[in-house]
Amino acid sequence: MVLSTGTNKIKTAVFISGTGSNLKSLIEFSKLKKSPISINLIISNNKLAKGLRYGTIFKIQKKIISFKNKDIAEKKILNELEKNKIELICLAGFMKILSKNFIKNFKGKILNIHPSLLPKYKGLNTHLRAIENKDKYSGCTVHFVNAKLDSGKIILQKRVSILKKDSPDSLAKKVLAQEHILYPKAILKIFSL
Ligand code: GRF
Repeated sequence: MVLSTGTNKIKTAVFISGTGSNLKSLIEFSKLKKSPISINLIISNNKLAKGLRYGTIFKIQKKIISFKNKDIAEKKILNELEKNKIELICLAGFMKILSKNFIKNFKGKILNIHPSLLPKYKGLNTHLRAIENKDKYSGCTVHFVNAKLDSGKIILQKRVSILKKDSPDSLAKKVLAQEHILYPKAILKIFSL
């Protein structure tokens, strides 16, 4: 766990694979005075990830790392993290599962956002599963990352109502809007500011 914020902001890397709307919200948050973090590095396993454009727009260093060989990929990432003195990792729509060994290197310093009310619906297709089960609510969760998928300690959750007319797409939109608020809130919470 990162314990103190000191006077400088906590150097943070955001890992993405796709659209990067959570990345954008984290960047905007990081620019606020009250934010304990700065975003110094963007890592993507996907060279076509739309979110990479935020690296260009906000002048943040980005690295594309192929996961064809996970061992090599993780070594390269660890090297980048070290080079950039990264202290915190925020996974934001990152579609690769990090190895136990990688997580050990950053114990208590990796966060993830997941589009369900964990422990319900770990893994993929969360919105479809919630609708098929006729749940009244879904939502999103920010949690610490441990070696088990979507199972680390929960930091914050936000509930979203599922209406009869909701489709997986419409629910995903509503949940995503809440994710953009929840991730910064969870970061403020863990640094108790
Ligand atoms: C979000 O719903 C996030 O919870 C999930 O993947 C989606 C990523 O969206 N892990 P974006 O790339 O941040 O727009």
